[in-house]
Amino acid sequence: MLSEKRILLGVTGGIAAYKAAELIRSFVKAGARVRVVMTESACRFITPMTLGTLSGGEVYTDTFETTRDGEIPHIDLAYWADLVVVAPATANILGKIAGGMGDDLLSTTMLAVTAPVLLCPAMNSNMYANPAVQANIKKLADRGCRILDADSGDLACRTTGPGRLPSPEDILEVVETMFAKKDLAGVRVLVTAGPTQEPLDPVRFITNHSSGKMGFALAQAARRRGADVTLVSGPVSLDAPPGVELVPVQDARSMRDAVMNRLAGSDVIIKAAAVSDYRPSETSLSKIKKSDETLTVTLERNPDILASVGEEKGNRILVGFAMETEDLVENAQRKLSSKNLDLIVANDLGEPGAGFRHDTNVVRILDREGGDETLPLMEKKEVAERIIDRIVALLEKRA
Ligand code: PMT
Repeated sequence: MLSEKRILLGVTGGIAAYKAAELIRSFVKAGARVRVVMTESACRFITPMTLGTLSGGEVYTDTFETTRDGEIPHIDLAYWADLVVVAPATANILGKIAGGMGDDLLSTTMLAVTAPVLLCPAMNSNMYANPAVQANIKKLADRGCRILDADSGDLACRTTGPGRLPSPEDILEVVETMFAKKDLAGVRVLVTAGPTQEPLDPVRFITNHSSGKMGFALAQAARRRGADVTLVSGPVSLDAPPGVELVPVQDARSMRDAVMNRLAGSDVIIKAAAVSDYRPSETSLSKIKKSDETLTVTLERNPDILASVGEEKGNRILVGFAMETEDLVENAQRKLSSKNLDLIVANDLGEPGAGFRHDTNVVRILDREGGDETLPLMEKKEVAERIIDRIVALLEKRA
């Protein structure tokens, strides 16, 4: 996702400096090239050797020492960066950047930077609330810096409140959003995710293994690329991606209502949910007691939400999924045409790393023109990007 992007990470002297190590790992894992500038006080919390080992490059601490290539560090680093992230950003560095001061390598570099800047303040709650700090944050935001608000929670100074550095995953998400193409700006995307639960009695239900990861990754990717996203999800234990409207539902009928009520306000519908095809014909109001007799449960058909959307789809782009255990392509092709889809994403439960619960998937994307794209094993996050690429291509073709 951040392939070959050049991120300059500034680390300043707060207890959260130790989190810079994990942050560098996630940048590198996402494909970025990372250089690190540490202030003198940051070096008292975590060593340059740790951050240098993880970033795979030089760590810069001294304004007056030239780089390996003989360059002047504050100028070279400022020109090199596609993005500058300061995490954690102390009250001191915020004040220096806001005031245009340059008395160490990081603050001097910030004076020469023209790339986008992400600042992640982290400090004690009272310091964070201090009017001088807040005024500096506002000044920097007005000047175009992206500010990631501090999280609330237990702080190292044994108080509780706002001031925590957000998690490396949250910072990575903001960075990926800053780099993402905004090719879905103004497009309204409706995604379904997760399983449905079909109640048998107040304590039991019929469901499946869907974790929601595939659908949530799609919602997040669409949002990153500028779409207005609504995510209708069955019961899962995932947090809504930032900026996405989450509509929680329980069973197939409530999912159908949530989807059909939002159809008019959607341009693209992606149905990644694993909807139960059947539900118990009767739901007992009290717990079904065990007896020595065999218990027979009669199931009846649930509505096929995708087929209903297909009937009313009009000009919208409709993407379905097919979860198969045999005859993957034949079954997917049948669903593509019978449900009036533009694309179908087929995944085979028998393929290692594919389908339910994994962080990865292996999919084939079939289209109405007979196109058949096979993607290798990849993170669901990456699969989502590739599906969104296909949707963008369809939208462009229509325009
Ligand atoms: O959630 P994860 O753990 O990340 O797993 C991801 C996934 C395996 C659930 C996902 O990749 C996937 O394949 N989702 C579709 C699963 C499924 O229900 O497949 P299906 O072939 O039974 O259904 C075909 C399509 O019809 C799907 O788009 C489904 O959402 C839709 N459908 C199915 C039944 C029904 N009653 N209404 C529907 O809308």
